[in-house]
Amino acid sequence: MLVNMVKMLQAAKENKYAVAQFNINNLEWTRFILEACQEEDVPVILGVSEGALKYMGGPKTVVSLVKNLMDYLKISIPVVIHLDHGSSFDVCKEVIEAGFTSVMIDASKYDLDKNIEITKQVVDYAKKRNISVEAEVGHIGGSEDENNSGILYADKDDCYRFCLETHVDFLAPALGSVHGPYHGDPVLNFDLMEQIRDICNIPLVLHGGSGIYDEQIKKAIECGICKLNINTELQQVWAKAVREKLANDKEVYDPRKIIKSGEDSIKKAIKEKIILLGTRHM
Ligand code: 13P
Repeated sequence: MLVNMVKMLQAAKENKYAVAQFNINNLEWTRFILEACQEEDVPVILGVSEGALKYMGGPKTVVSLVKNLMDYLKISIPVVIHLDHGSSFDVCKEVIEAGFTSVMIDASKYDLDKNIEITKQVVDYAKKRNISVEAEVGHIGGSEDENNSGILYADKDDCYRFCLETHVDFLAPALGSVHGPYHGDPVLNFDLMEQIRDICNIPLVLHGGSGIYDEQIKKAIECGICKLNINTELQQVWAKAVREKLANDKEVYDPRKIIKSGEDSIKKAIKEKIILLGTRHM
């Protein structure tokens, strides 16, 4: 069943667990994630970046792919198709029209006033259509960062004003995590996380979930994190398995066999993460 994230993350907040956003890259990836989460009987958020959107053939292709896979595979768990780091109102509008059930508007590269203005525009459009909205305050850096501007920690008063004025459903404040591999240990500001949780009182999202230690993830959930975004980690375990396959089987040339050789590793990583997050079906 395709849903938005409102009830899903409200239940996570009330019951102190988190739901994973796994980013999708292609048909196989989407199938692996749907099947692993169905086997565990937990809800899942399929994150689609703008890069993945283009790679996979646009929003309509993504929506029909997910819908038809769910139908064919008899997927009965709640599934969200969520735009990851939407860069403008127009992109959010386009994916909503195509059938996405949730969007993230990331206007964090602008100053707070402009971030609020753009986010409000998306919230107004999305709410009328029963679509949930996530937004970012501060700036989560990392390998995808074009400007390599690094982390700009969120300010708790900015977060308060942001939530009050935009009525966004979920907030992704920059708390020390980064996208892509960590260089050194992740340093998360848990005090700030708790303060933002208490002051905003909406489900919080932690980006850059790959490479954060298990104990840090558990603590983050105690401090208000209801959604954890994971992309790099699945790509890494898949790439490792495929490299091994190609190294050990010099005869293989069927792309289905090559891509599928990463299936078990991806599914194992997904299931471990679900257990760690304590995700449940409410
Ligand atoms: P990682 O690639 O570091 O797991 O981050 C994913 C993410 O935050 C997507 O928004």
